[in-house]
Amino acid sequence: MTALREKFSSRLGFVLATAGSAVGIGNLVGFPVNAAKNGGGAFLLIYLVFVFFICLPVLMAELAMGRHTRSNPVGAYSQISQHQQFWRLTGMLKIITPFMIAVFYMVITVWLFGYLVMSASGQLDYLAKPDSFNNTINSLHIFFAMLLVGAMVFFILRSGVQRGIERAAKVLMPSLFIMLLVLVVFVLSLDNALAGARFFIVPDITKLNAGVINNALSQAFFSLSLGMGILITYGSYLDKKDNIIKAGSMVAVADTSVAFIAGLLILPAIFSFNPQINTAELSDSSVSLIFVLLPNIFLTLQDTIGFFGAHTIATVFFLLVFFAAITSLVSIIEVPVAYLIDEKNITRRRALMLLAVIGGALVIMSALSFGALTVFTEFTTYAGQSKSVFDVIIDIFYDTILPLNGLMVCLFASFRWRHHQLTHELALGNNTYAGSWLDKYIRFSLSSFIPAILLLIFCNTVAQKFFAYSLLGF
Ligand code: PHE
Repeated sequence: MTALREKFSSRLGFVLATAGSAVGIGNLVGFPVNAAKNGGGAFLLIYLVFVFFICLPVLMAELAMGRHTRSNPVGAYSQISQHQQFWRLTGMLKIITPFMIAVFYMVITVWLFGYLVMSASGQLDYLAKPDSFNNTINSLHIFFAMLLVGAMVFFILRSGVQRGIERAAKVLMPSLFIMLLVLVVFVLSLDNALAGARFFIVPDITKLNAGVINNALSQAFFSLSLGMGILITYGSYLDKKDNIIKAGSMVAVADTSVAFIAGLLILPAIFSFNPQINTAELSDSSVSLIFVLLPNIFLTLQDTIGFFGAHTIATVFFLLVFFAAITSLVSIIEVPVAYLIDEKNITRRRALMLLAVIGGALVIMSALSFGALTVFTEFTTYAGQSKSVFDVIIDIFYDTILPLNGLMVCLFASFRWRHHQLTHELALGNNTYAGSWLDKYIRFSLSSFIPAILLLIFCNTVAQKFFAYSLLGF
């Protein structure tokens, strides 16, 4: 199996494919919504600290584990730990997490596709009405969209790593970046947009609280595709000559830049189109904010640039976000696919069929949990709140398990795999790495304050999410 494992054809191919995985709904929807909800600049600041001081070492460790073992996450944990059951189970968690994340990700991707089709067919005025989001996501059409998007993802994955993911990412990622920049320049020229930019960039430290910290951490992990075995899997396709430090840093910088630019697009737009918006309204922001706000923005644009101009901009925007979502979705599902192929010895096609059946059922349950069916909408209750199937998946896998998976990577790389092996792997393809300050920082942080912080945030998230109690006391 090892000898036959496909490889990326170039470092650029790797960076683009990995950035294609990293850049997605998390950056373009999740990040701006979280920034709006959590006080703007304060969120941005803590997010940046998390990305560069906490997530980056974890990202390097995941890539190194993947390339060292040339394996999927379960194979990687079990090979390095010499098949210890505990670590094998840890690896299993990294197969289940991306699978469950793919479920809610698919639901949002399908909505995006619906919005794309509706803006392309000139229906912005419908989308801009207050009830349209609910009506659209609960309409029968959304099921056709689901089938179509499912089929697209299936065919991209059928064509394998190199041809499918890499080729798609090479075209999609740079065009996405350029499209975003053009939109930002446009939005920043609007009235009152600078108030939004200020809210987003200038931190107001009084806005920091435990919830902001939890959110920033989950968002950073999710956005960089950490703790989900993605980077272990992608690392396994890297060549020993490749420089992991350089490629990994490029991915983190690209991902963070896209999130930042998306923030610079959405927050000024919110302020420009709702000049009297206040903090209380902002702190209520959720994913629906983007879906309700954007059509209104594009529709207002119609006054200046006309029906055709506004619909073109809206279509380009939704197309761009949809592209980004598809590359991410493909990479999330590649993790369980690679696992089934390597460990269970089944063909790619069969693995995909199996996942499509189980995943499809879960996607339908989640898609119906926005009011369409009460059993799924009011699925359960905890911490005094009624939760839908969709909420439960987000609370468990996005908010809770991601930091836990990150914690396990730190513990595993530091205490089971051992530092010198990690250094050795990271030094392949980078002859100045061993003994450098970066090497020292990565070794030290992974075995000390990073796991400590991740453990604290994990415990606090469990307490807050499921028992309505903040351990951090603020
Ligand atoms: N990082 C992607 C995003 O921000 C989502 C993702 C999560 C992709 C996990 C792969 C794995 O949208």
